[in-house]
Amino acid sequence: MDDITIARALHVLAVIVWVGGVVMVTWVILPAARRMAKPEDRIAFFEGVERRFALQARVMTLLAAGSGFYMVHQLGMWSRFLDSAFWWMHAMVAVWAVFTLVLFVFEPLFLHRWFVERARQAPERTFALVQRLHWVLATISLLTAVAAVAGTHGAI
Ligand code: HEM
Repeated sequence: MDDITIARALHVLAVIVWVGGVVMVTWVILPAARRMAKPEDRIAFFEGVERRFALQARVMTLLAAGSGFYMVHQLGMWSRFLDSAFWWMHAMVAVWAVFTLVLFVFEPLFLHRWFVERARQAPERTFALVQRLHWVLATISLLTAVAAVAGTHGAI
């Protein structure tokens, strides 16, 4: 196996674990948390899951970016970012940038505190909002993954 194949395999592995986790939280964990009767239980359950997932997602975003930029550099693909036909390359970097901001900047700075305080005061509205935001993230990630496969294999 050459270095590009290894980088590609690591890239796809990172995307599977990361995006799969986002989908799991959106489709399974959040609906299960919202069905819990006591707001304190909901917050504790969701916090426990998100704390573990945040670590996994941080490692996977780093691996996806490392392997992705390695391929860009080794295959001389930097000029693709100047060509709108390669919008799916921009989409990959944009999705990665959104997650990086949320996981490495917003979450430790204020997002975590904001969630706990708001969820205690208005649990229904807060969980509904968090679920909507997760739907947006899951949808753009899945669409980007599909576009990336299509783009990589010359279908768009
Ligand atoms: C810093 C961020 C990223 C960079 C620099 C990057 C870079 C790349 C590159 C260079 C390729 C190979 C393109 C080719 O061979 O023509 C690729 C493929 C791919 N990327 Fe990304 N990517 C990034 C983030 C993402 C994200 C966030 C996703 C998913 C949401 C993603 C999903 C994929 C998929 C599914 C492939 C296709 C693999 C294949 O079929 O061979 N990437 N990426």
